[in-house]
Amino acid sequence: MNHFEYKGGVLYAEDLPLSVIAREVGTPVYVYSRATLERHARVFKAALAHLPNAHIAFAIKANPNLAVLKVMQREGLGADVVSGGELARALIAGMAGADIVFSGVGKMPREMIQGLEAGIGQFNIESEEEGVELAAIAASRGLRAACALRVNPDVDAGTHDKISTGKAENKFGVPYDRTGAIYSRLAKLEGLEMRGLAVHIGSQLQSLDPLETAFTKMGELLRELRAGGQIVTTMDLGGGLGVPYRADEVFPTPEEYGAMVGRVTRGWDTRLVFEPGRAITGNAGVLLTEVIRVKRSSNRAPFVVVDAAMNDLARPAMYGAWHDIDAVKPNGQRMVANVVGPICETGDTFATGRDIDALEAGDLAVFRTAGAYGATMASSYNSRGFVAEVMVDGDKFAVVADRILPAQISDAERVPEWLA
Ligand code: LLP
Repeated sequence: MNHFEYKGGVLYAEDLPLSVIAREVGTPVYVYSRATLERHARVFKAALAHLPNAHIAFAIKANPNLAVLKVMQREGLGADVVSGGELARALIAGMAGADIVFSGVGKMPREMIQGLEAGIGQFNIESEEEGVELAAIAASRGLRAACALRVNPDVDAGTHDKISTGKAENKFGVPYDRTGAIYSRLAKLEGLEMRGLAVHIGSQLQSLDPLETAFTKMGELLRELRAGGQIVTTMDLGGGLGVPYRADEVFPTPEEYGAMVGRVTRGWDTRLVFEPGRAITGNAGVLLTEVIRVKRSSNRAPFVVVDAAMNDLARPAMYGAWHDIDAVKPNGQRMVANVVGPICETGDTFATGRDIDALEAGDLAVFRTAGAYGATMASSYNSRGFVAEVMVDGDKFAVVADRILPAQISDAERVPEWLA
């Protein structure tokens, strides 16, 4: 459920017509609904409320906008970060260091120091090498880094290859059958406090089955570690719950996810950490765009050329992802069209031969479900700058990220004197 709905034939974000935002901020622009963000955070919390000791760390990579993070912080969520930049954002948003989890295979020494200085609650160590390095850095400062060891359970998440992370050939985590040996070696290091295990098998999962398989395997490891005398007080179950991108798709609900977790983790007696991203922000945002022109040629479907492009919303070009496209003021007619951006490559295509609301030059339209992995994956390809982001709250809105103009980007470039 989200708050982007038609009222009197016009698409609204909460109580504000999207046409108002287009007029005042221009297009393309990302629009987030505060009520939807809050609702999704609350639904997720409620779905886990029956677990004895659950902690939700919002995966900042899904939407790092500071206003979005502030909503998460006000809802009591912590953060899952994967870079020094994301860590800094979590702190700016007011999240407590203790509520921050640091994931990622390539943490650099300066990022480890940054995490230690912020007193973060958990480093998710992705390799033995990383653990040894972090231990040395922490010990040299007289500190102990609280850690979980990320395991690669070799489970196929059944999602797009580029966002699968739990197969043996993926770069993430330590091999399942070496977990015990690596854990006990790291637990002996002075600079580390090994608290448990972490797993994340992929994103946009449409079935709970692979998650259940992975969590069951993690439960076996937990028992093995304890049998070997190790202390395990935390289990991090990652993110990955998918969301519908098409009106007719059915996905497991947070409630069903929570019930499955409750079943699998019964008797674990650990703190449970969750790292949802998409499930919380995905449906809470749209990318609002204006049609530049409709290009009709021969007997093929026309090209609806919009002012948003693959640099603004990369998912269709990158993963062949589907985003529903709707007119802001549908006129009741339909058309079959190719919806494309202005960028000079064929990959800059949002939809091919799609049945959509009839659109003409100057009409406004939205790409739905753009609140996760949207603005954050933008680039300035074709020197297009970065689009603005807006948050709506009832009938008011605020620009929560300024549009970055091409000139601001070229201002940061220099022609050396010896070329001038
Ligand atoms: N935890 C870890 C360690 C992750 O790597 C990720 C996502 C998450 C949590 C959050 O997963 P979620 O709940 O959002 O599925 N750019 C891609 C998605 C990449 C996901 C990367 N990792 C896309 O646009 O589909």
